[in-house]
Amino acid sequence: MRKQIAAANWKMNLTWTQGKRLLEDILGGGVSVKSHQQVVFGVPSPYIPLADEIVRTKDRYAISAQNCYEKKSGAYTGEIAAEMLQSIGIKYCIVGHSERREYFNESNQVLAEKLNRCLENGIVPIFCCGEPLSIREAGTQNSHVETQLKESLFHLSPDQLKSVVIAYEPIWAIGTGKTASTEQAQEMHACVRTVLADKYSPAVADDISILYGGSVKANNAKELFSCPDVDGGLVGGASLVAADFLTIIQSLK
Ligand code: PGA
Repeated sequence: MRKQIAAANWKMNLTWTQGKRLLEDILGGGVSVKSHQQVVFGVPSPYIPLADEIVRTKDRYAISAQNCYEKKSGAYTGEIAAEMLQSIGIKYCIVGHSERREYFNESNQVLAEKLNRCLENGIVPIFCCGEPLSIREAGTQNSHVETQLKESLFHLSPDQLKSVVIAYEPIWAIGTGKTASTEQAQEMHACVRTVLADKYSPAVADDISILYGGSVKANNAKELFSCPDVDGGLVGGASLVAADFLTIIQSLK
């Protein structure tokens, strides 16, 4: 059975004092995370080992990196290799967030390499896809996302694919307060699953967790997560407020 996941994406926010407090408030929030559920905190790079120390002993909670580099190692000042994450026991890495695609020109091809590096090192990539507003307005969002999946994922074996978490994040909904409707979310998630079923198999597609991201809030998470093909969320702004993120965790199926 695929996992239901609440993944926080702190982006470039919070001092360590604030972040530590947030983690402690969430872990101490008295919410029970069931065995088919997982909570992941995508924290800024300098906090990864510190945050991991806090969640390490807690089942069903894990720390994620927000990015890694596409090369294995070498003279790439300032970059973080997947092998480095693996060497300190980190299990997740966000790959291809739309902000990385937009501000750092990450192409589908570069992201395919990042996925390879994660998988070689036993790290679950949280692979982000999603269309900008212009594509949504033109009504070509399905083929846009299909191309992202094809160019970044389709070289993977079925077993490798099963280790990938996909996050569908319509760019027009990220940080804008404009959430996709449950119909829009379900339609795209079903489309992603069909694309995977056609390339791999229905059984493989059925095993993949597909998260929704884009203005997930405490007051809309339950409705979004109730869609049959929505397996939780990748949450930015609302993950920075303990009470809100706790409600989002409790909204998982
Ligand atoms: P948001 O961000 O929840 O603030 O819209 C989501 C994301 O970018 O992952």
